[in-house]
Amino acid sequence: MGKLIYHGHSFLEVILNEHKIYVDPFITGNPLCDLKPENASCNYIILTHGHADHFGNTIEIARGNDVKVIATAELSYYLEAKGVSTHAMNLGGSFQFPFGRVKLTLAHHSSSTPDGTYAGDPAGILLSAGDKTVFHAGDTALFYDMKLIGDYHKIDYAFLPVGDNFTMGIDDAVKAAEFLNAETIIPVHYNTFEIIKADANEFKRKIESIGKKCIVMNAGDEINF
Ligand code: NI
Ligand code: MN
Repeated sequence: MGKLIYHGHSFLEVILNEHKIYVDPFITGNPLCDLKPENASCNYIILTHGHADHFGNTIEIARGNDVKVIATAELSYYLEAKGVSTHAMNLGGSFQFPFGRVKLTLAHHSSSTPDGTYAGDPAGILLSAGDKTVFHAGDTALFYDMKLIGDYHKIDYAFLPVGDNFTMGIDDAVKAAEFLNAETIIPVHYNTFEIIKADANEFKRKIESIGKKCIVMNAGDEINF
């Protein structure tokens, strides 16, 4: 039914029927990314927050094209002022889009745009289509309410940051996987820069030791679901 393609760092592409959705399209300045900015095109962009390594190439991909950006209210208003078409949401809210349902969850982090404008609260993303749910945690610390997200939603694929320093590190992300009770966990937000180096195999071992599946994806790798 769908396809998940990883493009390095936190950049995830979701294909659902005729819809192509980018989450956090960080291309320029992302040494792990397998896409070139001129080859980037999609129908929707969902942003977890405004930081440059997530906001990425959003404006050039969206402006002048038939692309809608889904983001928290403050980030949406900022983008609208730059000539980008948006759909504003906020934490805890969900909306049925043509491709599926998006719900924004809490993320414990911070958020401003690359030029330093306040961008509201950061978010995680629950994307549900058919009987599948994908969770992109955004940048976040470990927090106990992940248990609530897991109790309340059956998560098939969870993309969790493991690079430490700015987000959860490996051990916190293993605890998050436990709280979320996700079926399959994919580590993201690591090895892009020296300061967030992490051993994905160590993460995989630790995830498997709590009885869950872990897929280590390299840029360009796909999961069909
Ligand atoms: Ni961030
Ligand atoms: Mn980040």
